[in-house]
Amino acid sequence: MGNVIVEMEHISKAFSGVQALNDVKLELREGEVMALLGENGAGKSTLVKILSGVYTRDAGTVRIFGKEYGDLNPTTAREAGVAIIHQELNMCRHLTVCENMFLGREIKGKFALNNAKMEEEARHYLDELGVDISPRRIVGDLPVSKQQMIEIAKALSVHAKVLIMDEPTSALTSKEIEELFRIIGRLKEQGCGIIYISHRLEELEHIADRVTIMRDGRFITTAAYKDLTMDKIIEHMVGREIKERFPRIECEKGEKIFEVKNLNAGRLVRDINFSLYKGEIVGFAGLMGAGRTETTRAIFGVDPKTGGEIWLEGKKLSISSPLDAIRAGIVLAPEDRKKDGLCTKLSIRQNIALPNLDVIGGKSGVLSRAKEDALCDQAVSELSIKTPSVEKDANTLSGGNQQKVVVGKWLVRDSKVVIFDEPTRGIDVGAKVEIYNLMNQLKKKGIAVMFVSSELPEVLGIADRIIVMCDGRITGELDARQTTQQEIMRYATMFENKLGKVEGRTEGKERG
Ligand SMILES: Nc1ncnc2c1ncn2[C@@H]1O[C@H](COP(=O)(O)OP(=O)(O)OP(=O)(O)O)[C@@H](O)[C@H]1O
Ligand SMILES: [Mg+2]
Repeated sequence: MGNVIVEMEHISKAFSGVQALNDVKLELREGEVMALLGENGAGKSTLVKILSGVYTRDAGTVRIFGKEYGDLNPTTAREAGVAIIHQELNMCRHLTVCENMFLGREIKGKFALNNAKMEEEARHYLDELGVDISPRRIVGDLPVSKQQMIEIAKALSVHAKVLIMDEPTSALTSKEIEELFRIIGRLKEQGCGIIYISHRLEELEHIADRVTIMRDGRFITTAAYKDLTMDKIIEHMVGREIKERFPRIECEKGEKIFEVKNLNAGRLVRDINFSLYKGEIVGFAGLMGAGRTETTRAIFGVDPKTGGEIWLEGKKLSISSPLDAIRAGIVLAPEDRKKDGLCTKLSIRQNIALPNLDVIGGKSGVLSRAKEDALCDQAVSELSIKTPSVEKDANTLSGGNQQKVVVGKWLVRDSKVVIFDEPTRGIDVGAKVEIYNLMNQLKKKGIAVMFVSSELPEVLGIADRIIVMCDGRITGELDARQTTQQEIMRYATMFENKLGKVEGRTEGKERG
């Protein structure tokens, strides 16, 4: 085993009213991947932010390569060899890829900045990751997965000896994840130590050497990954046993309630046809970029449709804005919580209340504080949102708890169709089960649930029926109880692999 390169001991940190860390320790060795695990709000991000100089600690010691450090700041941490890839992407959207990568450590020429040299280096690290983007592109124009890859390239370019990755894969495609794991392997060979945070526990077997588990701001255990079972890891994380990770319930399939006919939208979405029935959850599987999010946005009226019809309970709807959709009884919990799902500068109460003002106002239109309180309490308790008070700003919540607010605000109102776009991204195992149970409750109530997810185990485990999309079209429809991951992947990569016709297709039109 390699030498110890990072030792954090007795670390404590409080934010106003919240003890985020309480006497926590963490050790990292040369050439290892240390997975840092815990529920949402356990304190993982806070701990690594202390190591990278973003937050200062209230107590405890930090040694990096044997040297003890007092308060670190981002510059001293970087000089000590620490680099961090943040959970919430942290780039200047209006600057180019290259400018972002060299922010604060620009390469200077004789008289001015040496742009050519910086671009060359930026290109080198992007190539290494297999990312085909010009360093001159504006970051804000790129999709989230590409922005994530740029963050990773940036961390590589500083030649860190201690690399922290806080949920690096939550927005990556499976190909990009493969690239990332390959690079992690190479960095390990070079002696780099990696602290790796993820809620995708399936990833651990590919990369984790050791595991440190935290719960409620406290250290629980550190152990070699091979000495632990998945059940044991989960039990340490949540403090109790989770009986079933995918608790599907059986309901009788009711009548057809919702229908999308020949929907076309934007440059991607082509000829989408499907129906939702009462008492079932329909999973939408596919690779990142298959057009599932675009489809939900067109249905919900965020983006314009170029053709097609939407029917609810036998009536044709005309939806040209989200307000039309909400009035008709269709709601959407979107994928990008920072951009579309949450007002981070408003309180949790305001975030939950805003889309439900009609409910809170009732027939009279006078807002009722008691009703608002009741709605907030319901959302916070049903989803176990971890916060001392609903008056706190949404951006004081941990990443996963922010996601719960996005989902929670829609669950407290009566709807007919609920669309979830990647509802469990960044959410811990225990909370995932809570969200599945909520979806099950909707299903039991006879509400049609459309469930977009890139995690195949959860689509297979929770949905009744699975619709697979590829390249903006529906390529297959499968019975979730009969199918396999391999079969879903075959439909999901149909056009990529140029397979052309796939046998057994039940829905979807063929094109180009
Ligand atoms: N800037 C802040 N102000 C107030 N409270 C904060 C702040 N940052 C974090 N917290 C609180 O500290 C606790 C730990 O949060 P942290 O972000 O470290 O959790 P996490 O383990 O990374 O969770 P997740 O898996 O959801 O990302 C949470 O209760 C959170 O609400
Ligand atoms: Mg976090």
